[in-house]
Amino acid sequence: MRFLKASSAAAIASSLAIAVNADTEIEHPNFEQFTKQLSSDSFFEQFNESSLSTRWKISHATKKDTEEFVYNGEWSIEESEINPGFKNDLGLVVKSEAAHHAIYAPLPSIFNNTDNTLVLQYEVKLQNGLNCGGAYIKLLSFEGGPDDSNEFNNDTPYQIMFGPDKCGMTNKVHFIIKRLNPITGEYEEKHLQTPPMSRIVKTSSLYTLIIKPNQDFEIRINGQVAKAGSLLDPHYFKMDPPLEIEDPNDFKPDDWIDDEFIPDLNAVKPDDWDESEPIMIDDPNAIKPSNWDENASELISDPNAIKPIYWDDEEDGEWTAPKILNPECENHGCGPWLPPRIKNPKYKGKWTPPLIENPEYKGEWQRNKIPNPNYYHDSNPSNLESIGSIGFELWTMTNSILFDNIYLGHSIKEAEEIGNLTFIPKLELEELESSSTMPKPKFEPESPPSSLSEISAFNEIYEQVQEAFELFLESAYDFINCFKNDPLNTLINRPGEAFFYIVVFVCSFIIGFGIWAVIISLIVGFGPSTPEVETEKEEEIVELIEESNTATESKINETEAIKR
Ligand SMILES: *[C@@H]1O[C@H](CO)[C@@H](O)[C@H](O)[C@H]1NC(C)=O
Ligand SMILES: *[C@@H]1O[C@H](CO)[C@@H](O)[C@H](O)[C@H]1NC(C)=O
Ligand SMILES: *[C@@H]1O[C@H](CO)[C@@H](O)[C@H](O)[C@H]1NC(C)=O
Ligand SMILES: *[C@@H]1O[C@H](CO)[C@@H](O)[C@H](O)[C@H]1NC(C)=O
Repeated sequence: MRFLKASSAAAIASSLAIAVNADTEIEHPNFEQFTKQLSSDSFFEQFNESSLSTRWKISHATKKDTEEFVYNGEWSIEESEINPGFKNDLGLVVKSEAAHHAIYAPLPSIFNNTDNTLVLQYEVKLQNGLNCGGAYIKLLSFEGGPDDSNEFNNDTPYQIMFGPDKCGMTNKVHFIIKRLNPITGEYEEKHLQTPPMSRIVKTSSLYTLIIKPNQDFEIRINGQVAKAGSLLDPHYFKMDPPLEIEDPNDFKPDDWIDDEFIPDLNAVKPDDWDESEPIMIDDPNAIKPSNWDENASELISDPNAIKPIYWDDEEDGEWTAPKILNPECENHGCGPWLPPRIKNPKYKGKWTPPLIENPEYKGEWQRNKIPNPNYYHDSNPSNLESIGSIGFELWTMTNSILFDNIYLGHSIKEAEEIGNLTFIPKLELEELESSSTMPKPKFEPESPPSSLSEISAFNEIYEQVQEAFELFLESAYDFINCFKNDPLNTLINRPGEAFFYIVVFVCSFIIGFGIWAVIISLIVGFGPSTPEVETEKEEEIVELIEESNTATESKINETEAIKR
């Protein structure tokens, strides 16, 4: 939780439209008036205590063909627990690990995108990260959409699926459009071929999808364009089925010659080809080292050995001393000298006739192509079918995914305004929170980012540092595990790491001790006063919120002026 000094909190309370309670934490800005300004066919969900009892319906569908497939994942409306932003800011949270979750909200009126722009935007906060799971949103078709809460499942027809999905190394922001093939009467999924990567951070990320009536699309992450192009560009989408398909009734003839090369039957073995030459021979150029002693033997009878008393030559045979290495041979070879073996340069092996091109070869057999009977041309994929509901239908191994500020409408400007008002100041608070609870990169930005683009650049660096830190923790953990199982071998085999971790341990001990010293001296009253940096940053955030609020106010005034 963020705490502001009472004086600055009072300043916000008086000058801004932000409620600051007795705890002096930053409350969620009041959007009541802003929401009223949104276009009548815009859907905007910020979530409140009554969302689950009024607007959103949890599905408990089961899949008939596989009885294990049950939607029993729990949902809840709650405040963020990790890196909280605004106080009293509720979101929709995926509660269960390793479970199917489905929830949807019927739209107040049918969303019709014919010859119009579609803007879909929502916040995702991966409070526990995302090992394996989806965090995407679906726009459900009106026809055949869920009509009661038990029916929303992965077969429910949808028009758009958009958002993060990650499992292991696969990480993408899905963008899938479902289009009806008018010939087959079946819906086909059209995937964005080169989807951007989703952001795996424990602060909020803003995902925006824009589809324009001129067939241009745009995916923004934290307000930055992550992918943009045309729905009709085959580089991004294969909207149309292939023009030609292989003829399923075409079969390979029995007499088709497949072998491209055959042995040359006219070739004869050359006279000088000696098949009897061995592969390895003695090296003819090897010379016996001058100090090699062929007369001495490598092993000698141990001169110090004594015949045991119990030895009975009659019964045990003649006693011989055990053999030991000849001490005279320590510095040179002894015994019969043999030259080293080398590869025989004359070796040719068995002669086989060379291969020649097969004059009968007809090439690789391929099915004939025929025109695809199911081909159709989709010239207007941005004209989606009617959308009746918005929902999440997810399977995830990782819980605590929080969704917030869902917008579906026709206005890019409205989505940007929502981002400016909610996401930017919230992320600021969250990053302040995360910097106070997480090991922080050394290079902090000079000043807090003030636009979406700066924020996303900063986030990128931060994400990389965080990833590196997680990797470090992982390898440290692995090292400690090995050490626990087999301390000696671990130290011998991984001396560099051992040294490194000892240094890290000692350093953190010293730093930790230093922090304690500061805390104790603070309590005793001699320490430095409260660090300045935090308050400075907080003030800058307050300014930021102030700016965006002024922006809303002026926007509201503007609209009202227009109305009058
Ligand atoms: C909760 O949100 C819904 C939908 O946005 C809204 O209609 C309702 O008035 C809100 N309720 C409260 C108590 O704010
Ligand atoms: C959607 O809008 C288009 C153009 O305004 C209109 O022709 C069409 O009838 C509408 N569809 C529905 C289902 O309302
Ligand atoms: C090894 O023995 C042979 C004959 O027994 C002798 O001619 C030769 O000099 C001996 N070589 C060495 C190195 O003692
Ligand atoms: C959102 O904020 C940015 C940066 O402050 C500004 O350039 C943009 O015009 C704002 N957008 C809207 C729709 O208010």
